[in-house]
Amino acid sequence: MAKTGRAMLAELLIPSDRLDVSAAGALRIEGHEAAALLERFGSPLNVVVESTLRENYRRIRRAFAERWPAPVNVMYAIKTNNTLAIRAVLSEEGAGGDCFGLGELHATMVGGADPARVVMNGSNKSRAEIAAAVRLGITLNIDGEAEIAIAQAEARAAGRTARVALRLKLMPEGLDSFSPVFFKTTGGIRDAVRRSKWGYSPEAATPLLRAIAAAPDLRFAGYSCHVGRFAADPRAYGVVARAIGEAVLALHAATGLWPEILDIGGGWARQREPESRAPDLNPHAIEDHAAASVAGLLDALRPTGRALPALWLEPGRYVVGNAVVLLARVGAIKRDCGLTWVHVDASTNDLMRIETSQAWYHVLPASRMDADDVGPVEIVGGTCIPSLIGAGREMPGLAAGDCVAILDAGMYAEAIANQFNAIPRPACVLVAPGRAEIVKRRETIADLFATHVVPERLAGATRQGIDV
Ligand SMILES: Cc1ncc(COP(=O)(O)O)c(C=O)c1O
Repeated sequence: MAKTGRAMLAELLIPSDRLDVSAAGALRIEGHEAAALLERFGSPLNVVVESTLRENYRRIRRAFAERWPAPVNVMYAIKTNNTLAIRAVLSEEGAGGDCFGLGELHATMVGGADPARVVMNGSNKSRAEIAAAVRLGITLNIDGEAEIAIAQAEARAAGRTARVALRLKLMPEGLDSFSPVFFKTTGGIRDAVRRSKWGYSPEAATPLLRAIAAAPDLRFAGYSCHVGRFAADPRAYGVVARAIGEAVLALHAATGLWPEILDIGGGWARQREPESRAPDLNPHAIEDHAAASVAGLLDALRPTGRALPALWLEPGRYVVGNAVVLLARVGAIKRDCGLTWVHVDASTNDLMRIETSQAWYHVLPASRMDADDVGPVEIVGGTCIPSLIGAGREMPGLAAGDCVAILDAGMYAEAIANQFNAIPRPACVLVAPGRAEIVKRRETIADLFATHVVPERLAGATRQGIDV
C-alpha cells in the first residue's frame, strides 16, 4: 500500500521527538519547517532540538534515580557528539561528563560540566592528559598500569589528591546467550569483550588496586565498566551489572577496598536505533535498561549491608541520538537499469556509521510529507564512493530542490564526519520554539586547507586557487 511521509513518521515517532507535519504537508522540527531552515541556513544542515536533549537526559536520570537508592550521576559521553552548545544545554541540566583525551576534556569543560562529576577514560592516557585531569579534580578511570605512578607523581606535583577508579573487564557466562547484534564479531559477546583492549579482569585488577591504595596522593574512588553497545536486550546489562557487583565483593575480599562510585558506562540501545542495522523500533525503553542494571547490582551488593556506592553512568547515544536531524537538499535524479538514484547534498561523509557499521537511518521526504510513495529509490550522497544513505526506500516523486530529513543524526555522526572529496562539513543550528541559532558555522574550503603547507621550494609549482 502506498504510504505518505506523514504515515511513515507516525509509525516511527518516539516520545522525545519534536517532529510533526503541517496542514500543507511540510515536516516541522520543533515547529520550524525543515525546508525553511535549509533556505535560511543553507544545505546540508544539522538541526539540534534542545527540548529533545533535555527530555532524554531527564528521562535517563529519572529512570535510574527512581531505582537506585544512592546518588546518581548521568555523565554525557561527549565522543557521541561534541558540539559545544549540546554540552552547554546538558550542563544546564546538571549532567556530568565522560571524556577521552585532551580535546574532549577541553570541550567538556568549555561546555560547562562540573569537574566533580566528570571522568576521563582511555587505555593509553598521556602524561599531559593525566596531569590535566588531576589539576581539574576530575576522576581518572585508570586503564593502564603505568597510569597509577603518573597520577601519583602529578598529584604530588600539584599538591592535591587525585581521585581514581579502575576500569574492569568482566565476561560473565550468561553473556553468550544474547545476540551480539551490535558487535562486528564472529565469536560470542564474551570473546569480543576478552579481545577488547579495555579494562582489567578481577585477577589482574587486584595488584593494581593494591598499588592505588599504597599511593599516598591517590584516593580510590571505585570502578568503571563499560562493556559497550553489545546487545539490545536490557537483560544483558543486568548480567553485566550483577557481574560488576560480584567483582566488587571479590575485590573487597582481596584488598579491603570498597567503592564510593560505580561507573557502569553507557551503551544501551535506543528505541529507534540506527546501530541495530534495521528500521524496526526496539521494544525496550530506558526504564527497562535501568531496571535490569539496578536489579543486577542490588542482587549482588545488598546482602552485604554495606553502603551502596553512587551510581555513575556514561550514556552517549541515548542522550543525543534523536536530538539531531540532518537536512539535505535533493539534486540530480537518475533512472536506469530498473533503479532510481536520488542524489542529496549530504553524504555518508556526514553519516559515517553507514560505512563502518551498516547503520540504518530513517529518511523522510520533508517537503512532500503528504505525497504517496512511487516506489523504491536509492538515496545517495554525491561523493565518489557509493554513499548509499538508504537503499530501496519507498519515497514520493522527489524533485530537485526538495528537502529530505535524516533522523537520529545526533550520535557518532558529526563527531566522526569527514571531508572526503574536500567537501566542507555542514553547519549546525540549535532549535527551540520560535528560535533557531547557528551553533556551528559551515566549514569553508579555506578551512579544509588551512593547516596545509606547501614548502617554499615547491612554490613555483603552485598557482591561484578558485575563489573560496
Ligand atoms: C567508555 C565509554 N563510555 C560511554 C560510551 C557511550 O556509549 P553509547 O553512546 O553507546 O551510550 C562509550 C562509547 O563508545 C565509551 O567507549
